[in-house]
Amino acid sequence: MLNRRRLLTLGAAAGGAVLLPSVGSSPAGAHGRAAHVHGVRPATTGRAAAVTPFTVRMPVPPVAQPVDTASGVDVYRIGIRSTTAEILPGVRTPVLTYGGSFVGPTIRARKGRPVRVTFGNQLAEHANVHLHGAHVPASSDGHPMDVIAPGQARQYDYPNTQQGATLWYHDHSHHLEAEHVYRGLHGFYVIEDDDERLLALPSGGYDVPILLRDALFDANGQLVFGGNPADRDVILANGRPQPYFPVAARKYRFRLLNGTTERVFTLNLGGVPLTQIATDGGLLPAPIPRTELELGSAERADVVIDFSRFPLGTQLVLADTTGPVLRFDVVRSAEDTSRVPDRLRALPTLPPATVNREVSFSFDLSGQAPIGLMNGVPYDPARNDFTVKRGATEIWRIYNADTEFSIPHTFHMHLTQFQVLDREGLPAMQQDVGLKDTVQVAPGTAVRVKATFTEYTGRYVYHCHFLEHSSAGMMATMEIVP
Ligand code: C2O
Ligand code: CU
Ligand code: CU
Repeated sequence: MLNRRRLLTLGAAAGGAVLLPSVGSSPAGAHGRAAHVHGVRPATTGRAAAVTPFTVRMPVPPVAQPVDTASGVDVYRIGIRSTTAEILPGVRTPVLTYGGSFVGPTIRARKGRPVRVTFGNQLAEHANVHLHGAHVPASSDGHPMDVIAPGQARQYDYPNTQQGATLWYHDHSHHLEAEHVYRGLHGFYVIEDDDERLLALPSGGYDVPILLRDALFDANGQLVFGGNPADRDVILANGRPQPYFPVAARKYRFRLLNGTTERVFTLNLGGVPLTQIATDGGLLPAPIPRTELELGSAERADVVIDFSRFPLGTQLVLADTTGPVLRFDVVRSAEDTSRVPDRLRALPTLPPATVNREVSFSFDLSGQAPIGLMNGVPYDPARNDFTVKRGATEIWRIYNADTEFSIPHTFHMHLTQFQVLDREGLPAMQQDVGLKDTVQVAPGTAVRVKATFTEYTGRYVYHCHFLEHSSAGMMATMEIVP
């Protein structure tokens, strides 16, 4: 029978059962897989020395530079490669990267102006790129089976027709997504738009993306994958442990992303309100002051913090329930002509729904390794689960059936942003406002979401965004048909 310990290591056990045969010997291969194969937890003894908080400065991920902008398309070339990064002070850690940086280069796109990125896979195993939250043709969606073989490249076309939003790109190669994202295949993709610019929100150097995630290191400073995700005890902001970030006494926009494979952050700034202005799909109708901000894996929140309320020398700690995440040090004064208007952007009104669907998450725990299920079956790329008529508006009720062992899940749908209608078994969550692409679903509860499936046809997936779960099969296919 299944014990609690085993359940907590669900990710690892599941990964071991379903991983494809090893296709390379990159650092990604070595650890996780050896651990999976032998069914043994990676050693967590002889841990890397604990990091003293606030000893390193938080970097801002580099901004990707286009290689060509003629003909109205911003063209980028980014390599997918293994390298080492200084995450812990003075230690080189093997990582997988987009473009060589542990948090990949930020692509800054403009609404209405297409971006084309050619990703070249320099790893010894396959990889790919999914632009999370984006409205893109199926051929550029980074479908789990559309992988880039070692030594090959693939071109992705992003039309950027949706409104301004904080998106992110990450690996989605079938069965490997959890390990690949954990080892560093993640980066920001920001769509800016003119309507947003007119609002005069903080911008330029005062618009800072922050990827929050966790990690577990062994005594040699290697990332440990597998085992219990809850053991990942080092919290990183833009790839550094509990850093400090010097700021001017003025307003900043921070684009917060939970880039973990499996964790919920509950953030606070010691009672100082964070003004949330945007969520997954872009601006909220109006700013919302938050003293606590909950972000599940893959969820985003753009917040404005006004540091002009504090004297120079003030230090403000952004903390999770597990401890400090990041410290803002108010070190200088600066001019500030930015503002946070009372009204940001109205939500689109969706037509009445013509189709209702039911989706349920659960684990099959009867075998040796847990298998992730959607509506009772594990992901099969050859099977189509839902046929959706292009242009249709639908209501999906997503139920988390894992009540026996209280396993939380998150729901994510490709292609479109949705609106949360309501929840059963739980009051609305604070993060249910605005345009969403990922929502938490607590055990024994259901959430109803409404979406319109416009423009593109083809096969897209929807899945649990705890990536150890999707890697174990908790994913399904919808085919959009003309
Ligand atoms: Cu963030 Cu299907 O992905
Ligand atoms: Cu996605
Ligand atoms: Cu799940």
